[in-house]
This record gives sequence, C-alpha cells and structure tokens, in this order.
Amino acid sequence: MGSMSDTSSQKTVSFGFETVTEDEKVRRVKGVFRSVAGNYDLMNDLMSAGVHRLWKYDTLSRLNPQPGEHLIDVAGGTGDVAKGFLERADRAGQRTGNNEDASAVICDINDAMLAAGRERSDLKSFRERLGWICGDATALPFPDRSADAITIAFGIRNVADRLKALEEFRRVLKPGGRLAVLEFSHMTAPLLQKAYDTYSFNVIPWLGGLVAGDRSSYQYLVESIRQFPDQETFRAEIEAAGFFRTSVTNFSGGIAALHFAWAV
Ligand SMILES: C[S@@+](CC[C@H](N)C(=O)[O-])C[C@H]1O[C@@H](n2cnc3c(N)ncnc32)[C@H](O)[C@@H]1O
Repeated sequence: MGSMSDTSSQKTVSFGFETVTEDEKVRRVKGVFRSVAGNYDLMNDLMSAGVHRLWKYDTLSRLNPQPGEHLIDVAGGTGDVAKGFLERADRAGQRTGNNEDASAVICDINDAMLAAGRERSDLKSFRERLGWICGDATALPFPDRSADAITIAFGIRNVADRLKALEEFRRVLKPGGRLAVLEFSHMTAPLLQKAYDTYSFNVIPWLGGLVAGDRSSYQYLVESIRQFPDQETFRAEIEAAGFFRTSVTNFSGGIAALHFAWAV
C-alpha cells in the first residue's frame, strides 16, 4: 500500500525520500522522535505559527467527546489531543449535568515523547484519568472493542505498516466508535504550492537546526509529508481496513487533513 513494495522477504517503505525496510523505518523514526522530544511542543508552535492548535481544535470538534467515553490517542506524543478530549468531554458533561469522567490513554512508541508529555504542568489536573503507555500502533496493547474513539495526530505518516495500524484501530474500537486521523496532506491550492515547498524545504530544517540542534530530523519531517498518500488514496486505505462513512476535511488548503471514519 502507498509507497510500500515487497520485492524481497522484507517489505520496504519510505523513510522520507529514502527506501528502507519496515524494521529500519521503525528504528529510525524512534531515533527522530527521541531526538526532538525535548523541543517538540515549542517546535510545533514555531513551525506552524501555532496553527496546529487550530487543526487539533477542529479535529476535537468533529469528535465531539462525551462524558464517560474512553479515548486512545495513538502516537499521542506529549498529549495535546488527549488533553483536549478530556476538556471537551467535561464541558459537555457540565452542559448536560452528566458528571461521568471521560478517560484517555496516550500510546506512543517512544518513551522520550511520553516522558516529555508527563512533565507538562497543564496535564496535572487530568492525572487520574490519563494513562501513558509505550506501544506500537501496529500492535496496540489494548483489548478488542475497548475504546469509544481513537485519534492519531501527525503519527500515521511515521508508521511503517499503515494497513496493520488501521486494522488495529478497528479491532480496538467499539462498534459505533470513531476514528480521527489528523495528518499533513497534499495542497489543494496549486498557486500556494511553490511558497509552501520553499518554506518547508528551507525554513523548517533550518529552524530545526537552530532551535533543536537537529536539522536532519526536520528534513525527515518535510520529506515524509511529501511521501504520504493524497487525501483520496488514504481515504481508500481507511476503507480497505474496514471502516465506514469515511470523510476528509482539508485544513489550510490541504496542508493538513482530517480523515474521519466509523467502526461498525
Ligand atoms: C509528530 S509526533 C505527533 C505527536 C502528537 N500526536 C501531536 O500531535 O502533537 C508523532 C509521534 O508518533 C510516534 N510514533 C511514530 N511511530 C509510531 C508507531 N509505530 N506507534 C506509535 N507511535 C508512533 C512518535 O514517537 C511521535 O511521538
């Protein structure tokens, strides 16, 4: 699927503009996020001028979290989406007089990202109902039909076997559960493409070198965005994994897109 091929016994996939085995991609992606973990939140704000917060806000609006629900935030990193989910569920509960607590687990393959998230002071009030688990999207350490919602924000691009991960999401979701995949995507405004390319291939690696002392991880980031399938191709992959009522919402002219789907 996507750029994946199976010419030998080991499947190969893209790692940025390189082709590597799946195992090698997993190893290198771990290295990238171990390296950027300490500066991750700051770099997100700098690179996107804070716009990633609006994309996450709109993703949560679409999810419409409710009291008592359980979220698994896959590749959840430092916990932005899980935090927003719990806040929204609490607000919904206050409006309707339902004081059941929602809960969330952040599942990420990288212990360094989880450690950075655990240190966030703005997550302290949610400590009791927020779990942090080190795990791989392609082999989720959760029982069948245990989540009301699954989110994966800017994570699926880094997963070596996307279909396996999507199948895991479907296994773990309850019937009627919803999947929200927020990911960088392909621009729908061709006139802006050149400016976007110039920004991504020049400014972002430079900024990564300056702020995080790690140019190559940010070079991987921009290359991996280009390698990710376009909106309709990825939507077809979600359907192939058995999801229903899939939809795509483009953000900022397709710089990012929200793929939304239901499990039955
Ligand atoms: C760009 S960060 C996104 C973090 C967070 N979701 C956010 O939006 O701020 C991508 C995350 O995916 C995680 N990741 C990469 N491959 C993974 C995999 N196979 N399973 C679980 N997490 C993975 C990385 O460790 C990293 O924390």
